[in-house]
Amino acid sequence: MGDATEINLPDYNLTGKVALVTGATSGLGRRFSLVLAKAGAKVAITGRRLERLDELKREIESLGGTAAAIALDVTDTGSIAACMSETEKSLGPLDILVNNAGMNVQALPAEVTPEGFDTMFDTNVRGAFFMAQAAGRSMMARGAGGRIINIASIGAHTVLPGLTIYCMTKAAIAMMTKSLGKEWARKGINVNAMCPGFIETELNSDWFQSEGGQKQIKTWPRRRLGLEEDLDGTLLLLASDHGRFITGSLFTIDDGQSL
Ligand code: NAI
Repeated sequence: MGDATEINLPDYNLTGKVALVTGATSGLGRRFSLVLAKAGAKVAITGRRLERLDELKREIESLGGTAAAIALDVTDTGSIAACMSETEKSLGPLDILVNNAGMNVQALPAEVTPEGFDTMFDTNVRGAFFMAQAAGRSMMARGAGGRIINIASIGAHTVLPGLTIYCMTKAAIAMMTKSLGKEWARKGINVNAMCPGFIETELNSDWFQSEGGQKQIKTWPRRRLGLEEDLDGTLLLLASDHGRFITGSLFTIDDGQSL
């Protein structure tokens, strides 16, 4: 038991750490990349739209940070392997993976096609799993532990109207988080997930500007959308030493939207 003079308040310093963010070209992934870089991590910003990655790299560098812009399509396991080796060559061994890339094909359950279904599962589940596998293998080979932060959704545990298949993919991410948390606990790898509520990004901005979207916002207790920065604190907790005792956990961050 320490006394009060030994209490160190969190400073979330990630200097010396290497992080990789998938789907960094927009929305939450872009924000996560900037926050990790500002906390001192060297960040592999990855995605399919290379010109956007170059722009983000310049922005990180203008803040005094370090970034490597690396092509990645999470549905292609060859692309995952190439991205991992490029990250380690450019920045060093990986400490933190933010498994953020994700998408939705808008279709009601009675109408969704097999192609739409497969696209969602290939990106949100298969892509996230093989990214976690690649990161986990690298962390285990090095033996220094690591952090995997999966981006699920409140749809992992709450029915979101019109988003059946999307919610199914996020429920799979929730179970993957708990299972890998247990499998890799002895290896010093902490695996957790954020389950955000609705936050306005490119994924949903058209919907929330529509009449239907405005009505949906009014059904939530605080009648407001989240902002990208509302996830900063949880990200830094899970990425930093202050998250040492947290693994296999799912964090609902939704302003009460799912209550
Ligand atoms: P977004 O559409 O702005 O970002 C998703 C990113 O993933 C994009 O950069 C996209 O290009 C990338 N991506 C999609 N398929 C990919 C692939 N095959 N390979 C590599 N990158 C790929 O949307 P947002 O909102 O930033 O979403 C980020 C994550 O957060 C997603 O997993 C989403 O499901 C999740 N989420 C978002 C919420 C929201 O309200 N915005 C709420 C809960 C979860």
